[in-house]
Amino acid sequence: MKSAGIRGAGYAIPSQKISNDDFSKMGLETSDEWIVARTGIKTRYIADENTTSATLAEAAARKAIQNAGLTRTEIDMVICATTSPEYPLFPSNACLLQHRLNLRQVPSFDLSAACSGFSYALTTGAQFIATGAAKNILVVASDCLSKFVDWQDRSICVLFGDGAGAIVLSETAQPGLSYSRLYSDGGHGNILCVPPDKTPPHIVMNGKAVFKVAVENVIPAIEEALSQTQITGESLTWFIPHQANIRIIQMIAQKVGIPEEKVLLNIAELGNTSAASIPIAIAQAAETGKFKPGDTILMAGFGAGFTWGINVLQWT
Ligand code: ACO
Repeated sequence: MKSAGIRGAGYAIPSQKISNDDFSKMGLETSDEWIVARTGIKTRYIADENTTSATLAEAAARKAIQNAGLTRTEIDMVICATTSPEYPLFPSNACLLQHRLNLRQVPSFDLSAACSGFSYALTTGAQFIATGAAKNILVVASDCLSKFVDWQDRSICVLFGDGAGAIVLSETAQPGLSYSRLYSDGGHGNILCVPPDKTPPHIVMNGKAVFKVAVENVIPAIEEALSQTQITGESLTWFIPHQANIRIIQMIAQKVGIPEEKVLLNIAELGNTSAASIPIAIAQAAETGKFKPGDTILMAGFGAGFTWGINVLQWT
């Protein structure tokens, strides 16, 4: 079995910035104090009508391929995690990327696991590397959930921002991805969903239930990963959780014994960017030189479905 590592990363966010105070100016009964205290979010970036999850994905992917030092002809597959694709049904964002990036006629497909999308896509890509079916896979996670929120609903619209993160996952002789485990429990589908009878379609959430289901499931899943890989919260180098809510992140980190300074965050600036939050954090850390070869990175995705997934990776 061949090992898979991250060879390059990139990210893209739209240009329109919305601060917490902007919501009050829009007439919503809310405040910067409430949003920061409950969620940790200060600003988020929102796609305009010409920007889609595919256009952001393309920008992130171009940077990832460039940072990987590869050319377009060396990409063997495209996996795009999104629940807000440019076309509601088809073609997939992955096929749009294959064409817009002028890649060879490689297999390209979307994968839907909401905010766990990157965990699912990374784990899926690693299987193709492990068997030798592909050497370099473009794994992209991109969402524009701002297009699926009710902008009059203060309990939802303040939470989400748009963005895309991309990596090139490549065969490596060094240790790379050492642990991946995915989970789901569709019995919790209704606590965070876009009901089929809502027109226009928009997100409905039971925030308290999401909080509870997330911490109750992600904590034991991380404990299992730490035990299987024989690392501890103290010995790992970085923890990258899905950026849903600072209070969920802090509770998880505290319970599994990961010190605060090891937690990579982008939620204050970007809000909850859904599937993109983890790969954006990877790309930001890579860009600023935070990661060193051999760093152990634990990632925890969780989101609607309910889905969750843990990956442990050595930075190569
Ligand atoms: N500004 C001011 N007041 C608000 C706002 C707002 N933006 N949103 C809701 N409120 C009000 C409610 O209307 C309610 O008012 P009421 O008491 O008069 O009815 C009051 O605040 C309390 O509402 P709750 O929903 O009980 O607020 P809660 O303390 O649970 O906080 C929150 C809401 C932040 C969503 C919380 O439930 C939470 O952190 N949940 C986790 C869910 C999450 O993080 N989702 C992100 C997306 S999911 C994912 O990525 C996996």
